Amino acid sequence: MSKPIFVLNGPNLSRLGAREPQIYGYETLEDIRQRCERRAASLGLVIEFRQSNHEGELVDWLNEAADGACAVVLNPAAYGHRSIALYDAIKAMDTPVVECHLSNPGAREAFRHVSMVSQAARGVVSGFGPMSYELALEAAAHLAGSAAKIAG
Ligand code: DQA
Repeated sequence: MSKPIFVLNGPNLSRLGAREPQIYGYETLEDIRQRCERRAASLGLVIEFRQSNHEGELVDWLNEAADGACAVVLNPAAYGHRSIALYDAIKAMDTPVVECHLSNPGAREAFRHVSMVSQAARGVVSGFGPMSYELALEAAAHLAGSAAKIAG
């Protein structure tokens, strides 16, 4: 598995640690990046970890991942609930995408119950805090391994 797994983060996740800690906890995005690096190393994987507040930039990165990544872990944050552009970008790629959330949006406000991204992603991990990222990485590695076997 020579290509990296992209770990992409959407809007306001740069504020983790200070942002509504009763919901998202006290770990910063940098703490989560380090967690992901450790988990990836234990799985023999390399990750590319990024965050953007801009929908178009997330679309650009998904387009890049179509050829440049073996799988994607995506926390689309609020864009997940309404972005047809993210939905289309995921539909336009064969690279498997695992949606990931710190909280469990299904147990929160009604406007969070719909996810455009879930309708295109291969699977969803949510509700386990920073551990959601580690579980999503494991799932992404599994999907990337299966895809490599089918291709090879
Ligand atoms: C989130 C859940 C979303 O509903 C919210 O808009 C976020 C964070 C999570 O990781 O729990 O920004 O994606």
